[in-house]
Amino acid sequence: MRPAATLTLALLLAACADTERREPLAARGAEIARDPTVSRSRYNVFACTTCHAVRPADVGARLLPGAPLEGAARRTSFWGGETAHLREAVERCWVFFMRGTSSDLDGPTGAALGAWLDSLAPEGSSAGTQPVAHTWPRTVRSLGEGDPSLARPIWDRACASCHGAVGTGAGRLGPSVSIIPGDTEREHCTTAFPPTYPDATTYMRTVVVEKIRHGSFLGYAGSMPPFSTEVLSDDDVRHLTMLFRCP
Ligand code: HEC
Ligand code: HEC
Repeated sequence: MRPAATLTLALLLAACADTERREPLAARGAEIARDPTVSRSRYNVFACTTCHAVRPADVGARLLPGAPLEGAARRTSFWGGETAHLREAVERCWVFFMRGTSSDLDGPTGAALGAWLDSLAPEGSSAGTQPVAHTWPRTVRSLGEGDPSLARPIWDRACASCHGAVGTGAGRLGPSVSIIPGDTEREHCTTAFPPTYPDATTYMRTVVVEKIRHGSFLGYAGSMPPFSTEVLSDDDVRHLTMLFRCP
């Protein structure tokens, strides 16, 4: 069977199966969605719920990079229109962020996640079924000065759940998560910044913008998720970059 078809098929099967069989599978999926250890990579520290709320009401004050998952099984387009396939949408997260393998999704893990996502979109309910808008700018540029006093509140809502406290990393998800701003300043504050930038700090802050917008995509390595302009505005990102400064 073509791998791309498998999750969809799992969803169909789950939808057809009697509730007795479906409920335990969906319940297992709900557990998997909250468990960072289901990805067998020892470097993974994420669960689905690190980046996604289950229902919109669970988002609270957080600024999460992924959309709420309720209704996702009935959406017709994912990742801001980049794919029309639920299987591919989940596979990106599983492989790029959680460092699992694509074949994990062909087995019991994929079937359970599929049954769970399906159970969040019951027949007749339209909640969450509209495609969610996400835009990730292809290219990034320096955003200029922001307001330093606004950086912390945005950090607390968007970044702290993974990175912990600014400066020390206290409470971060694990050792693979960078300590901000120290790690970035050490790596990207250079006197050899490209001539199109006025100074080292402007250059390094633009690297931060790139990281926030592109995560591990468009050639930037790593496992951090990209934040769309719908989740974090350019103003939010501009304020956040004020946490970073070269000596
Ligand atoms: C490190 C963060 C992260 C983790 C972990 C993660 N995702 Fe995602 N996910 C994203 C981002 C970013 C997107 C793209 C924005 C979007 O479309 O919601 C996304 C998109 C999706 C989408 C498409 C939603 C839509 O309507 O566009 C689905 C479905 C999804 N993820 C499911 C999962 C599942 C299931 C898991 C766990 C196996 C998971 N994700 C783990 C960040 C993550
Ligand atoms: C879902 C977890 C998660 C969230 C949320 C998150 N990050 Fe990250 N971030 C990571 C991980 C893991 C790394 C290290 C691996 C990598 O570079 O992708 C990282 C790396 C970085 C780096 C590069 C550090 C270096 O070594 O140069 C920067 C800068 C950064 N994050 C800033 C942010 C900011 C600002 C936010 C909030 C808008 C944020 N991150 C939100 C997980 C996260």
